[in-house]
Amino acid sequence: MPDDISDALPDVLGSCRIEKKIGEGGMGSVYLGTHRTLGTSVAIKVLPKHIDLKDPEYSQRFSREARIAARLRHPNLVQVHDFGTEGGYYYLVMDYVEGPTCSQEVEQKGRLEWRRAVDIARQVADGLEYAASKGIIHRDVTPGNIILEPSGVAYITDLGLAKETTADATGLTRSGASLGTPYYMSPEQINSARDVDFRADIYSLGATLYHMVCGTVPYTGTTFEVMTKQVREPLPPPKDHVPDLPDEICDVIRKMMAKAPDARYASYDDLRQDLTSLLEGTPVSAAGFTDQSMVTPSMGIGASQMLDIAGAQTQLANPPAAHKKSTGLLIAVIVLGILLAAVVFLMVTRG
Ligand SMILES: Nc1ncnc2c1ncn2[C@@H]1O[C@H](COP(=O)(O)OP(=O)(O)OP(=O)(O)O)[C@@H](O)[C@H]1O
Ligand SMILES: [Mg+2]
Repeated sequence: MPDDISDALPDVLGSCRIEKKIGEGGMGSVYLGTHRTLGTSVAIKVLPKHIDLKDPEYSQRFSREARIAARLRHPNLVQVHDFGTEGGYYYLVMDYVEGPTCSQEVEQKGRLEWRRAVDIARQVADGLEYAASKGIIHRDVTPGNIILEPSGVAYITDLGLAKETTADATGLTRSGASLGTPYYMSPEQINSARDVDFRADIYSLGATLYHMVCGTVPYTGTTFEVMTKQVREPLPPPKDHVPDLPDEICDVIRKMMAKAPDARYASYDDLRQDLTSLLEGTPVSAAGFTDQSMVTPSMGIGASQMLDIAGAQTQLANPPAAHKKSTGLLIAVIVLGILLAAVVFLMVTRG
C-alpha cells in the first residue's frame, strides 16, 4: 500500500491515536492505535485515498456495513468499535488481536496439522454463521483475514469492510477497492454475481482450509488463470500435496468448494456437524462427495468478461507463501544456471 497513507495520515483518527503501522493488505493499511480515553489497544484499518469518498454508493455501503458490523458480538469475530472519515480517509477501528494470521502460521510451518486446521475452520464457521444470521456476508474469507490468538481462539477479521461485489482481473473493483486475491474466491463471485449469499463464504472457507492443510492454494497461476480455474477446473485433490490426509477431510473440502452454491453445504449447521465429525472420527455427511455441478454451461466466465480479464494486468496481489517460495526457487535455479554457464564458458575459453 502506498506510503502516501502514512505520510498524510493524521495522528489522531476519531478517538484513537495512531501508534505504528502493523500491516497492509489489498484494502488498505492497518495501524496499532490507542484509544485516547480508555487507553486500550486498537487496530485501525485505513483505506487508501483513491477510494472515492464522493461515490455515494460506496460511502453509504461502507457506513451501513460498518454500523451493522459494530453491532455484532461473537467470540470468533474481531469486534468493530468505530468508523469514520478523516482527512479524506475512511477508517475502521477494531479490537487489536495479538497473534499471527493464519497465513503467517502456514508460511512459517509449511502447513498446519489437519486437526488444528479443522478446529480453526470450525471456529471461523461459527463466526460467519452468526454474521450471516445478521445479514452480513464476509466476501473475503482468506487465511490473511483469520488471526490466531495464542490461546487457540481463531478470529475472523475485516467483517463489515464494505467491498464491491464485482472485481475485474486486477482484483480491483469499480471504486478501486480491492476485493482481495482470487485464490479463495467463489465461482459466483468471479462471475460478478452481485447477490452472493453465505455459500460464497463457505467456498472461501473451503479454499482456506485447503491452503491450511496442503500448504498451498488450490489453484495457482496468473489472476486470469486462477479465476478461470475457480470457475471451471475440478479441484486438484488435496492428497496430491499431502498423501496421508484422511479421505473424509478431502470430501468435506470438496463439498465446501463445489462449483455451484446449491451443491455445497446448505447451512453452517450442516458444515459444523461435518467439521465436528472430522475431529471426533465419526462419519461425515460429505463422504464420497463428487461435484456434480462441475462444468455446467452456466458456470463459464462470460465472453465479455473473458476479454476484460485477458486484457487486464495479470499480476496477483498478495501472492500466498507457497507462490512466493516457488518464485524464489525459480530465481535460484536461474542464477545457478548462469553461474554454471559462466564456469563452462571460462573452462572452454581458457582450455
Ligand atoms: N484486528 C487486528 N488486530 C491485529 N492485527 C491485525 C488486525 N487486523 C489486521 N491486522 C494485521 O494487519 C495485517 C494486514 O491486514 P489487512 O486486512 O490490511 O490485509 P490482509 O488481511 O492481508 O488482506 P485483505 O485486504 O484481503 O484483508 C494482517 O496481516 C495482520 O497482521
Ligand atoms: Mg484483512
